[in-house]
Amino acid sequence: MKVKFIKATTCDISRVNQIYKASFPGKYQGQDFGSLIFSNDVSVTIAELPENGVSGIGFVIIRTIKNESEIIMLCVKPEHRREGLATLLMIDVIDKAITSGVKHIFLEVSEDNYKAKSMYKKLGFKNVGTRKNYYTSNNKRSDAIVKKLSLDEKETKLIYSKIKKKFIQICP
Ligand SMILES: CC(C)(COP(=O)(O)OP(=O)(O)OC[C@H]1O[C@@H](n2cnc3c(N)ncnc32)[C@H](O)[C@@H]1OP(=O)(O)O)[C@@H](O)C(=O)NCCC(=O)NCCS
Repeated sequence: MKVKFIKATTCDISRVNQIYKASFPGKYQGQDFGSLIFSNDVSVTIAELPENGVSGIGFVIIRTIKNESEIIMLCVKPEHRREGLATLLMIDVIDKAITSGVKHIFLEVSEDNYKAKSMYKKLGFKNVGTRKNYYTSNNKRSDAIVKKLSLDEKETKLIYSKIKKKFIQICP
């Protein structure tokens, strides 16, 4: 599997929305990422599998202000999950963050999203707060866990170099 990353432009708005819709079957509420792609502080990266002729399997949206980044959305289409793609998208985010002098990456994840929580833990993210009743899904509320990755920490560097070694064969 050879993954390619594309920096999304306004031409990719419908593709990003299509991946989002496919990644949240039954939950899509017409959210549009178009305005975000136009925003200066925001960067959207789409993962593709060109050898398989697949043009969009997942994406990550980040906002960077000064030396802090925030993951706004990360998703992978269900048929391509558990192949390391979200981890690869996160490796790309972390690589770019290190290069551009970012010190901390923040994100929010639902307390009941065990898959994403497990991945962020493996990447070295630490819990730094809780937003009570932050999400609503199917009329059920859940808390958001606020997580932070400090790129200058020794432990982060160690975890990150191990993960990169593991994924080196499929890293773009
Ligand atoms: C969460 C999500 C992005 C993971 O994408 P993915 O490409 O399948 O993730 P990876 O293959 O890189 O897996 C990384 C780790 O996540 C965890 N994980 C992923 N899928 C899992 C599953 N079905 N069960 C348990 N853990 C899982 C594991 O720790 C995994 O590491 P491992 O394979 O070494 O066990 C994907 O499931 C998704 O798009 N979900 C819907 C959107 C979402 O919840 N986004 C996160 C918002 S904060």
